[in-house]
Amino acid sequence: MKTAIILATSRADGNTHQLVDLYLKHQPCDLFNLKDYVISPYDYQHNNQNDDFITLINVLVKYDHLIFATPVYWYAMSAQMKLFVDRLSDLLTIEKALGRALNGKSCSILATGTDTKAPDCFIEPFKLTAKYFGIDYTGILYCCCRENFIVEEHITKIEATFSKEN
Ligand SMILES: Cc1cc2nc3c(=O)[nH]c(=O)nc-3n(C[C@H](O)[C@H](O)[C@H](O)COP(=O)(O)O)c2cc1C
Repeated sequence: MKTAIILATSRADGNTHQLVDLYLKHQPCDLFNLKDYVISPYDYQHNNQNDDFITLINVLVKYDHLIFATPVYWYAMSAQMKLFVDRLSDLLTIEKALGRALNGKSCSILATGTDTKAPDCFIEPFKLTAKYFGIDYTGILYCCCRENFIVEEHITKIEATFSKEN
């Protein structure tokens, strides 16, 4: 299964990026870090259609599984991820064929936060957005990081994820 990770965090080498790096050691995927792309907020007039969003989506639709990697910021996805998700609306208007191309794919979440558990209000927008586009949501791998990302605290969970999947 061809998998792409879409990473959106405010900290270049922070907890979420470290979780992604650890994940990549277990599962080869292609990484798309949104900090490398110009993605402007949704525009009803589509005056932003020459930024990087459509180019990026054209690449992402070639994957079977999309992993959204984000920290929990104020019970929600990162602002960078929200810009990306909002722009999926372009796929319902000016780029409908790309929207249809998402149908039948699957997705999941990689996330970090300080709370013990990711709140439902963090997970729901991913689940519901996936459902809207006909994408099968398969779950979340959430790592509670009190401060820094400590590999030993999370490795068991990550390995368990892969033993379940394989
Ligand atoms: C602006 C901001 C808001 C945050 N809000 C939450 C929150 O609502 N729930 C939570 O568990 N952690 C929250 N945290 C903690 C981060 O999710 C946690 O430190 C995460 O691992 C940071 O990942 P990063 O290094 O990729 O930014 C917040 C951190 C920041 C900077």
